[in-house]
Amino acid sequence: VPGAMAAERALAMATCTAPVNIAVIKYWGKRDTDLILPINSSLSVTLHQDQLKTTTTAAASRDFTEDRLWLNGAEVDVGHPRVQACLREVRRLARKRRGGSEDAATLSLLSYKVHIASENNFPTAAGLASSAAGYACLVSALARLYGVEDELSEVARRGSGSACRSMWGGFVQWQRGERPDGTDSLAHQVAPETHWPELRVLVLVVSGQKKPVASTVGMQTSVETSPLLKHRAEVVVPERLAQMMQHIRERDFEGFGQLAMRDSNQFHATCLDTFPPIFYLNDLSRHIITLAHRYNAHHGHTKVAYTFDAGPNAVIFMLADTVDEFVEVVRRSFPPATNGDQFVRGLPVGSAALPQELVAAVVTEPVPGAVQYILHTKPGPGPQLVDDPSQHLLGADGLPRRRA
Ligand code: DP6
Repeated sequence: VPGAMAAERALAMATCTAPVNIAVIKYWGKRDTDLILPINSSLSVTLHQDQLKTTTTAAASRDFTEDRLWLNGAEVDVGHPRVQACLREVRRLARKRRGGSEDAATLSLLSYKVHIASENNFPTAAGLASSAAGYACLVSALARLYGVEDELSEVARRGSGSACRSMWGGFVQWQRGERPDGTDSLAHQVAPETHWPELRVLVLVVSGQKKPVASTVGMQTSVETSPLLKHRAEVVVPERLAQMMQHIRERDFEGFGQLAMRDSNQFHATCLDTFPPIFYLNDLSRHIITLAHRYNAHHGHTKVAYTFDAGPNAVIFMLADTVDEFVEVVRRSFPPATNGDQFVRGLPVGSAALPQELVAAVVTEPVPGAVQYILHTKPGPGPQLVDDPSQHLLGADGLPRRRA
């Protein structure tokens, strides 16, 4: 028990990494805002941490005088209710463990204050959903620190709903549950990332984003005002979840992609049905949507599938053999503002010569500079323990290490 052994020393420390996830059946709306219980189940794909991850170090020491938290190097208020809920719940699970000599050590560890440092390997300004990875990572690191091995998606859910899905790799379902106390509102893995090795993901990071309505606030207004959301949660989502599971099981990209696009569109339709309406899609998102449909129409089947969350970045699914050509289509449609260096990041992308008919059919009105860059990634595993002590974000003094 690493946490317990470390308690003998003055300082115990654990570091974990956690992934971002993108929903293909969207979560939108809570039936309990305190416990973060959703009005419908949802399903997501966990993205690979080589491209997008949060790293968090949690430390406990009898020398610490207060709980402290640093995000990307800057100290922030540790009193945030959702951070406090995660801390409280992990500690509760740690106390609950019975028997064994480690309990005394864990108990003293539990009485110490904690220092937590967290950072992303991608720019926060890119507007990529980071709260899911952030809370999944916080809960993973705290659990390691205290030696908790229980099911933790229930705890991560208390940080951010979508965070419970980042506790698993591959394809993940968050079951809405029925109980008022939320003990059955959990995430579980539908299939591991190895199940569909050809699946690829492009994140189109859009330029000049302004801060949209936060999901927490937006979804509550939707719950209160949108009859479409009610119908979606009660009727549409249960049917779609079953369909989506089957498409994933059969690795049917046509079915998977079409349903992902429809579900993204319906989520944004519920935003428009919210009163006053919420707009997450903009002209550029609509341009990307049109481009994807033209591209699919040109090929006569679904080769690419977009999905958008509560912001204008596009996430596009495709199979590996489509990546080179579609990246070239994006490059022609949104010519990079500068010389194009770093326009494509992440997994390697090969060059592709586009047939003239394809260009004529899909690249209609190029918008220079509209897409800042493309991130090429794929499905990946769940949270990981970082064994190498040189990777801790906190030093032996319990303060953030100076970053290179
Ligand atoms: C549009 O998980 O960020 O990304 O539970 O209030 O923290 P809170 O909301 P959050 O909502 C995510 C909404 C979404 C769809 C999804 O990820 O399923």
